[in-house]
Amino acid sequence: MAERVVLAYSGGLDTSVGIGWLQDATGKEVVALAVDVGQGGEDMDSIRQRALDCGAVEAVVVDAKDEFANDFLMPALKANALYQKRYPLVSALSRPLIARHLARVAQELGADSVAHGCTGKGNDQVRFEAAVAALAPGLACIAPIRDLALTRDKAIAYAEEKGLPIQQSKKNPYSIDKNVWGRAVETGFLEEPWNGPVEDLYEYTADPAADGPADEVTITFAEGVPVAIDGEVVSPLEAVVRLNEIAGRHGVGRIDMVEDRLVGIKSREVYEAPAAIALIAAHEELENLTLERDLGRFKRDVEAEWSNLVYDGLWFSGLKRSLDVFIDDTQKSVSGDIRMTLQGGRATVTGRRSVQSLYDFSLATYDTGDSFDQSQAKGFIEIWSLPSKISARRDLAPGE
Ligand code: ARG
Repeated sequence: MAERVVLAYSGGLDTSVGIGWLQDATGKEVVALAVDVGQGGEDMDSIRQRALDCGAVEAVVVDAKDEFANDFLMPALKANALYQKRYPLVSALSRPLIARHLARVAQELGADSVAHGCTGKGNDQVRFEAAVAALAPGLACIAPIRDLALTRDKAIAYAEEKGLPIQQSKKNPYSIDKNVWGRAVETGFLEEPWNGPVEDLYEYTADPAADGPADEVTITFAEGVPVAIDGEVVSPLEAVVRLNEIAGRHGVGRIDMVEDRLVGIKSREVYEAPAAIALIAAHEELENLTLERDLGRFKRDVEAEWSNLVYDGLWFSGLKRSLDVFIDDTQKSVSGDIRMTLQGGRATVTGRRSVQSLYDFSLATYDTGDSFDQSQAKGFIEIWSLPSKISARRDLAPGE
């Protein structure tokens, strides 16, 4: 029996041609795996049929939207995960999930290898392969575009020659990856970092400059996870879908940045992630209310580390697992309501409340009812500044 390879299949030109290309180059039977992470567009049945028409011996479709939201997006939200303080890790979060399904299907269908359609210049190849290595170290990884030099022109020629059922519409100038957490747009005229993004790049967000009246939304969190929107109970996936809709309508979550890839390249990226940006802003503010000062401060360092690890493809690593334990522990008190105003591209928190709140009105107030003993501040500052005073006595020239 021929050996088998499981290919992460999107339904697009590259991975469709990749099926035959892989088969010709390796002699392996190709199993196509399409994972629904909320990318929208074509329905999964037609994608499945296309894989079979392109020569796959089997085509497996997985609806992983809830799994993606529960197991990947909620940990990212608890970590307020933003790479380089801005990018909510849209693609970086989907790769380990897809890799987990690749490894599972490979095992179930007796494949000895997996394949993906990444080029050799990006982060996604690293993420797929590092995740597969951690989950199924015996599986080989093949990347037809990178390793078998399948260029776009060759792909089009191959599709025509074999009569593959792919409508090669006018070449989309952008490389786009999307899922329910957001959308990433690269290449084309954006490769010149001075060029401003044009309005028709965007799909998840309306033009914030043309926005109408504000919307207000109240998000209820339980232990760091959104559980209701405006009082209506939602699953994590529903929360994300709902906020994409409301926040997207107000142009929230557009990001235009130069990013440092793991492979050493600086790249210009345009993202839109309305739910991610609104949820992280809300979640962070609830933490401001409910986490003690040192915990919040230390957690912000952990968040940066967590984001770097996930960006770099180390989702299934020991360090990431241990950081998750820390982060989960911090979330025990992160429950309550956040009220936000959405308008003109901004999600602004206007109210917060929690039974776990550490905010003490009687300590904070400048009016009557003040319970803070100001006379204690003098002695506190005396001792707090003692090290500074002592070293200044040593270091400053006399009379300075
Ligand atoms: N630069 C982003 C990242 O590394 C987005 C990658 C998007 N992938 C793509 N094939 N367009 O996570």
